[in-house]
Amino acid sequence: MSIYGDYIKSVIRTVPDWPQPGVNFRDITPLLQNSAAFRKLVDSFVHRYQEMEIDAVAAIDARGFIVGAPLAYELGCSFVPVRKKGKLPFRTISETYTLEYGEAEVELHSDAFKQGDRILIVDDLIATGGTMLAAAKLITRSGGQVVETATIVDLPDLGGSARIREAGFNVFAVCS
Ligand code: PRP
Ligand code: HPA
Repeated sequence: MSIYGDYIKSVIRTVPDWPQPGVNFRDITPLLQNSAAFRKLVDSFVHRYQEMEIDAVAAIDARGFIVGAPLAYELGCSFVPVRKKGKLPFRTISETYTLEYGEAEVELHSDAFKQGDRILIVDDLIATGGTMLAAAKLITRSGGQVVETATIVDLPDLGGSARIREAGFNVFAVCS
């Protein structure tokens, strides 16, 4: 939990039965609409990472971009998009991962950062952890050093953050 964790949690909306019956969807749009809350959110990440000598913030398509861009700006480091398959125009490397039904793939440009660069990965939410873990593996395979994986919301009951930690990566969540 971060310095503003309880407050950030209070401005995230739960939408029952979306996108399907039985799912409680954690919706960050009320947080984004609230300028004071959005500032506290970005400040939570800045506070944690400003002394960690991050070379690049790698943000996951699409909602990870919302926090990744202001964070890279504040840290004074580069911004690297980790995109869904078929969106990046230059040479890419990719990582496939399993969804509940079927597979998904994330991609990274092969020249996105230098070998050994210290990379922070950000996204809005960790559920099963499949997306974040695929991004962490991709960055590691590309020669980046994953300093930490960071999220606004962790859903610990789904086991994703535990899975990411078991694979050897650090996890930071603003709230759970
Ligand atoms: C959501 C969320 C994470 C991922 C979490 O993205 O933004 O990236 O799912 O789920 P997991 O931990 O089970 O992998 P989504 O694919 O809905 O894409 P979006 O950001 O483009 O809406
Ligand atoms: N909220 C937002 N994105 C998600 C969720 C959720 O509850 N579960 C999986 N992806």
